[in-house]
Amino acid sequence: MKGKVYLVGAGPGDPELLTVKALRILKAADIVLHDELIGPEILALAPPGAFLHNVGKRCGQKSTPQEQINSLLVTLASSGLQVVRLKGGDPLVFGRGGEEIEALRSAKIEFEIVPGVTAAVGAAAATQISLTHRRVSSALVLLTNQHCHEKAGDDWRQLVSSRATVVIYMPGYNYEATSRRLVEAGLKSDTPCTIVSRATLPEQQVYHTTVGNLPGAPQLPAPTLLVVGEVARLADAANHFEVVSGLTRQQPSVSLATHLSQEQDLPDREQSA
Ligand SMILES: C[S@@+](CC[C@H](N)C(=O)[O-])C[C@H]1O[C@@H](n2cnc3c(N)ncnc32)[C@H](O)[C@@H]1O
Repeated sequence: MKGKVYLVGAGPGDPELLTVKALRILKAADIVLHDELIGPEILALAPPGAFLHNVGKRCGQKSTPQEQINSLLVTLASSGLQVVRLKGGDPLVFGRGGEEIEALRSAKIEFEIVPGVTAAVGAAAATQISLTHRRVSSALVLLTNQHCHEKAGDDWRQLVSSRATVVIYMPGYNYEATSRRLVEAGLKSDTPCTIVSRATLPEQQVYHTTVGNLPGAPQLPAPTLLVVGEVARLADAANHFEVVSGLTRQQPSVSLATHLSQEQDLPDREQSA
């Protein structure tokens, strides 16, 4: 049988967010090379005879080098195996899917990409934050605040705007630096932001604050991401999210909540947000 590689997104954690296609492919795998963040419930869906191998990369910890993962994918598929490269979220969002595609293409290995629910989208649904909202946010920017590499980060001034929702993946715990970077990029310090820890999992925690108060935020368990922008204030106003126990939360923005409830009577000016 001809070998093939499937780059499969497993979603943000809740096994029910796996797609039907991902499940079908996982159930037929000979071998699963998976990320660190893939939970046991999802791994248990692979057939009993499949070989499971954790190739996860975590900041500051020992991991399989990307070149070795690429070469494993090529070697295993060349020997006729159905290889599932199972990644958290979506394979093409901060998942090094691009590097694996290049390696598979140049080795002429057949491959297929199965999208998954990226963490930003999973966290938004789980916290009832609409990532775009035609009143306050007309763009969505996905950033990473990775500190694993020495290269200087992107210039956020070109990426961040008060009319956009910014979701920061791998935000780390240096909230003081993140807050400073966001303010230097042009955001006001009273811009709302929300930390979502272990989104979509039973142990999910959410902490609401502002860009200016971010340095005082708690270090919630990884993985976390940070949603920055006026849309975070709307989640607060809707009062629809879990609050970390024992922590104070920001008061809802009465003015914005009132403003929005009044605007609901206005006719739609656009088809979609
Ligand atoms: C290497 S990136 C991979 C992103 C993934 N490909 C995706 O589309 O979601 C890992 C980062 O995604 C975010 N992340 C993944 N799962 C998460 C979850 N359940 N809750 C919060 N953040 C999560 C965290 O910022 C984590 O550090």
